[in-house]
Amino acid sequence: MKNVAVAGAQWGDEGKGKVVDILAEKFDYVIRYQGGHNAGHSVVFGGKRYALHVLPSGIFHADTVNIVGNGVVVDPFALLKEIEGMESKGISVTPERLKISDRAHIILPYHGIIDRWRESGSGKRQIGTTGRGIGPAYEWKASRRGVRFCDAYDMGHFRQRVEYEYTAIREIYGDMDELAEWPLSRVLEESCAAVARLMPHVIDSVYELAEARAQGKRMLFEGAQATLLDVDFGTYPYVTSSNSCLLGITAGAGVPPGAIQRSIGICKAYTTRVGKGPFPTELHDDTGTKLRDAGHEYGTTTGRPRRCGWLDLVALKYVQHLNDFSTLAIMKLDVMDSLAEVKLCVGYRLDGEEITRFPAALDALDRVEPIYKTFPGWQTPLHEVRRYDALPTEAKNYLAAVERFIGCPVGLVSVGPDREQTIFRHADLFN
Ligand code: IMP
Repeated sequence: MKNVAVAGAQWGDEGKGKVVDILAEKFDYVIRYQGGHNAGHSVVFGGKRYALHVLPSGIFHADTVNIVGNGVVVDPFALLKEIEGMESKGISVTPERLKISDRAHIILPYHGIIDRWRESGSGKRQIGTTGRGIGPAYEWKASRRGVRFCDAYDMGHFRQRVEYEYTAIREIYGDMDELAEWPLSRVLEESCAAVARLMPHVIDSVYELAEARAQGKRMLFEGAQATLLDVDFGTYPYVTSSNSCLLGITAGAGVPPGAIQRSIGICKAYTTRVGKGPFPTELHDDTGTKLRDAGHEYGTTTGRPRRCGWLDLVALKYVQHLNDFSTLAIMKLDVMDSLAEVKLCVGYRLDGEEITRFPAALDALDRVEPIYKTFPGWQTPLHEVRRYDALPTEAKNYLAAVERFIGCPVGLVSVGPDREQTIFRHADLFN
C-alpha cells in the first residue's frame, strides 16, 4: 500500500486541490499537515466551484476520513464557516469525516489582529500576508504560549489559558484599535462557543494514524502553500510560517518518515506569486497580463491579483532537491495556449556570473537576472486533449525540457479546471 504526499513546487496556488481531489477517492485518509486558512484550494466539479481553506480535499468523497493534523493552525470561526458553507452545498462534514488533532494550535482573534496591525504599518517589514493570524499563531506555538484543542477538553482550563494570553497581549499591544473591538469578555465568549462546536471532531490523531497504518489504510498527505513559501527553505522572510514542503509532513501530521512512499510535486506551467518577495522570472509586460487573465490569477483566499512570470527551472530544481518528488504534475498548461513563444528560465546571471543555484540570500535573489531558453508556442487550444500523445509537439517539447532539467517525470498534465480536463501520462504513479 502506497501513501502519497502532494506539495506545491512554487509559491503556492499551483492547483494542489484539483490533484488531491482527483486522487482522494483512492485513499482512506486525507491529512493536512501545516498552514491554516491562509490556504485556498479551488476544486471544480459538476460545474460548481468549491473553495477549501482548512478542510482537506478528501471532504468531497463520502468514504474518506479527513484529518487536520497537529501542524495546522486552526481558526475555529473560519473553520465553522467553511463547514457550514460545505453543508449548505450538500457536502456533509460529520465528526466521522472530519477529525482535528487535539495537538493542533488554535488561532484566536488576537492573532489575526496582530498580523493585520503589523501588515498595516509602512516600510520594509511587510510580508504581504493573508492577514489571517497565521504567523502570530505559529509564533505563539514556538514561544510555548499557544492554546491547543486539547486545552478545551476542560473548558474551564481553556478559558484560563485564553484569559492569561489575552492579558499578556493587551499589556504589549494595548494601543491596537482592532483589539478594542475584542475585549476579553468577547474573546472568551465567542472563542469558547466556537471551539465547543468543533470539539466533537477533536481526536488524538497520533493513535488514529498509527492504527490506520497498522491496518494498511492508504493515506494522502495534502500540503498547503508551497516549497518556496516554506519558513526554512523558501524566500525568507517572504514566506509563510510553517514547513510547507514535504519535509513538514512527519512533524505536522505525526507520522514517521517511512510513512510516505510516493510524492507528487504540483507545478504550474508558468509561475505565480501573491504577496511580496523576490520573483526572478516575474513579467511586468503584456505576457504577464495575458497569463493573469487567461489563468484567472486572483487569490482564492484574498482575491489579490497574482504576480505572473515564466517557469523558473533553477527554482524548481532546488525544490526537487528538497522534496525528491516521484513525479511532477504540470498544471494550467492550457493557459499558455495563445502565446507565440514560451520561455523557461535555465540559469541566473548574478553580478555578471552565470549560476544555476537558487541563492538563500534575499539581496542576491533580488539581483539575479534570468537566462531563458525560448520555445515556439503551440497556439492550439488544449482543453479537450485527454492523452499525452495528442498534445501538440511544441507542448511536448516544452514539457520534455522541464523533465530533462529537473530529472523528474511529468506524470500528469492539467488542461483546465475540471476534474475531466486531466491527462494522466504515467498512470502507475497515481495508483
Ligand atoms: P501568511 O501565510 O498569511 O503569513 O502569508 C505569508 C506569505 O505567504 C504571503 O506572501 C502570502 O501571500 C503567502 N501565502 C499564504 N498562503 C498562501 C497560499 O495558499 N497560496 C499562495 N500564497 C500564500
